Amino acid sequence: MESAEIRRRWLRFFEERGHTVVPSASLIADDPTLLLINAGMAPFKPYFLGEVKPPYIRATSVQKCVRTPDIEEVGKTTRHGTFFQMCGNFSFGDYFKEGAAKLAWELLTSPQDKGGYGLDPERLWVTVYKEDDEAERIWRDVVGVPPERIQRLGKKDNYWSMGVPGPCGPCSEINYDRGPEFGPEGGPAVNDERYVEIWNLVFMQYERGPGTGKEDFEILGDLPNKNIDTGLGLERLAMILQGVHNMYEIDTSRAVIDKATELTGRAYGAAEDSDVSLRVVSDHIRASVMLIGDGVAPGNEGRGYVLRRIMRRAIRNMRLLGATGPVVGELVDTVIATMGEQYPELITDRRRIETVALAEEAAFLKTLRSGTAILDDAVTETKAAGATVLAGDKAFLLHDTWGFPIDLTLEMAAEQGLTVDEAGFRRLMTEQRERAKADARAKKTGHADLGAYRAIVDSSGTTDFTGYTGYESEATIVGLLVGGVSAPAATEGDEVEVVLDRTPFYAEGGGQIGDSGRIRLDSGAVVLVRDVQKPVPGVHVHKGVVQVGEITVGAPVWASIDVDRRRAIARAHSATHLTHQALRDALGPTAAQAGSENQPGRFRFDFGSPSAVPQTVMTDVEQKINEVLARDLDVSAEVMGLEQAKKQGAIAEFGEKYGDRVRVVTIGDFSKELCGGTHVHNTAQLGLVKLLGESSIGSGVRRIEALVGVDAYSFLAKEHTVVAQLQELLKGRSEELPEKISGMLARLKDAEKEIEKFRAEKVLQAAAGLAQSAQDVRGTALVTAQVPDGTGADDLRKLVLDVRGRLTQGSGTDRPVVVALFSVAGGRPLTVIATNEAARAHGLKAGDLVRVAAKTLGGGGGGKPDVAQGGGQNPAAVGEAVAAVERLVGEAA
Ligand code: ALA
Repeated sequence: MESAEIRRRWLRFFEERGHTVVPSASLIADDPTLLLINAGMAPFKPYFLGEVKPPYIRATSVQKCVRTPDIEEVGKTTRHGTFFQMCGNFSFGDYFKEGAAKLAWELLTSPQDKGGYGLDPERLWVTVYKEDDEAERIWRDVVGVPPERIQRLGKKDNYWSMGVPGPCGPCSEINYDRGPEFGPEGGPAVNDERYVEIWNLVFMQYERGPGTGKEDFEILGDLPNKNIDTGLGLERLAMILQGVHNMYEIDTSRAVIDKATELTGRAYGAAEDSDVSLRVVSDHIRASVMLIGDGVAPGNEGRGYVLRRIMRRAIRNMRLLGATGPVVGELVDTVIATMGEQYPELITDRRRIETVALAEEAAFLKTLRSGTAILDDAVTETKAAGATVLAGDKAFLLHDTWGFPIDLTLEMAAEQGLTVDEAGFRRLMTEQRERAKADARAKKTGHADLGAYRAIVDSSGTTDFTGYTGYESEATIVGLLVGGVSAPAATEGDEVEVVLDRTPFYAEGGGQIGDSGRIRLDSGAVVLVRDVQKPVPGVHVHKGVVQVGEITVGAPVWASIDVDRRRAIARAHSATHLTHQALRDALGPTAAQAGSENQPGRFRFDFGSPSAVPQTVMTDVEQKINEVLARDLDVSAEVMGLEQAKKQGAIAEFGEKYGDRVRVVTIGDFSKELCGGTHVHNTAQLGLVKLLGESSIGSGVRRIEALVGVDAYSFLAKEHTVVAQLQELLKGRSEELPEKISGMLARLKDAEKEIEKFRAEKVLQAAAGLAQSAQDVRGTALVTAQVPDGTGADDLRKLVLDVRGRLTQGSGTDRPVVVALFSVAGGRPLTVIATNEAARAHGLKAGDLVRVAAKTLGGGGGGKPDVAQGGGQNPAAVGEAVAAVERLVGEAA
């Protein structure tokens, strides 16, 4: 049975049994505790916790998931994958253990011609949590599983949570016996390769607290409801139904293995290590395509790093298999071909996905080239020092600066006979990560105690945002935190987080920063609001300080925002939409938004583009935007269904998650975009938009920075003043300035060359005089002199060699010649001494002479026997140094 059919049957089965089919959410989780969606239940977490009332009581989905903790196991075992699809059925306070067990058994064991998967019930084993008598009874007495195929296991295996505070509960797993060739008898408690887990039923009824690992955490209490969360690994079931030995060989993955063998010429099944590489490539390329599809871009942090690591491992494995050139393009196409039926957006986004993947491949191949040179140096250095272990800081540098994954460093060092101090490397990595975490915490304080905000939602609901239409409103304080902890009251000087029942303050989101302003009480108390965040959906948390008086929960207040600041932010936000549309018009849909930040009077806009945007295009885009402003277009917002918005052609940001009802912001006939932000009423309010420039912020992503309104005007006014000053100085019109300046620069360069020539000539002119001044010290021609101050070491050396040449030529080769010149440059004395062959035969070596001279000068130096140089600290000692040289020559001659 094909993967696509497994998926269809799953959804049909549960839909027929009263479940709402929910499409897979984006891999980018809308949950601060989660980097990427790693379980089918993740998008439903607020329903389990009771934070949000679910719109249905039964749901089913096939959710895209990425898990990387076992990345090193990929390809080596039969069933570890970084990307997989989790089929799930969910009950929110509706059916519980019995309902879940009966549904699961029916779907697995019904014959294939009746819509089931047709598994042999004799091959199914179940495990239950060791204390869960109820689950055991249901399997045995209601479903009819023989007691000998029910096993009890501990918390590690049969208790499920997301690994962080949140919903949890005991679980029960259904395992499939693959037969004696896969391991010994005895059920899943004995061997999980033979009795492979296919379906996990979680009885989600408790809330867990903080802790580590799968076992070490406390149960905080009951969830509002008893729920069901189940997960069946689509790839695992496909492995069984397609009769293959591991999940890399199922239909969707096998195609990638085949493509990789075609590209490298290495057959699958020929050798264990190349098979592992082929399986890694298959898994990792699939994961990469799905991540890029959901809007993740390769980077050095967070999700971007997960993607980068996966992609680079895939590329590295292709090279181990023998690939030399680029290979990612064809592999990506293969994934899109096999997964496109289930995920049609992969087909529509093909160009963007390919562009991002190819750019990362090109970047990594470049990295490999430069990093390899650095690694080779480090290896040589290590070996020269007689060591066999490459230092941890070298591995860290390669990782940090050159993007070398540690396994790559390990492998490449091993090829040269070295091991790597991995512990040292990991220590540095941890230090760096801690630093990054501390930075992030400092940036967004108060996110720690989400429970406190949830409690506020429980008692008072979410915040009613009045700020689309007004700048101030009456409200009531419904929640208050002082120093991150709930408090009934706060007084002057306290740093507070205030939650109101309604507010005109926009909370940071969708690229728009939060409002600032004031919350006033009748008593005269005032809270100065600096920032507003939404740590849990729908709750606006006003962060600031009590400036005057005391505030208490329940008090009526008057909330008002800084209107000028908000207007400037709104101008920036509307300008962002115009820029987005104008860029798409110029570059096509690949120029999709990848992020933005709207601040008072300025914004930055990140978008996808494989290469730099030419200056001419930037100029056109800027002109287009400014023309649109002048057209006086109305800006309006409307809430509608997601489907309707899409039908109207509204553009959405990649990777953003939207609910069923969305807000669409329309700017005349020019732009239509899904957006929750605040905008101007009319484009004319923007006045002016100035794009400052465009640059790369990572593979395939570019950033535009721009100014709006008065800020744009001030910038241009300042530039104008500078141009006016230059016109005055250069006596030319503004359009003549570039030519004038480049002409001046060319002349300056010529003049510098000329001066340099004169100086060199002048130095050499001195050579003749110096040669003549040679004294005869018992047969040796000796020149000692102090040349004019400011002569540098290079010129001094030229001069010395020139003088030695003149003396040697004029007198045959057998007369000993010693030339010792001195100068003072930059306040320090220096000397260059040269000897000819005949002098050296007499034991007069330049290096020895310089050592003595430089010591006299209060410094050091040396060099070869024919020419050497040195310097010191004491310019007054030049005479003494000259005398020292003369004495040495005299003694030798
Ligand atoms: N949430 C459960 C799991 O991921 C079903 O295994």
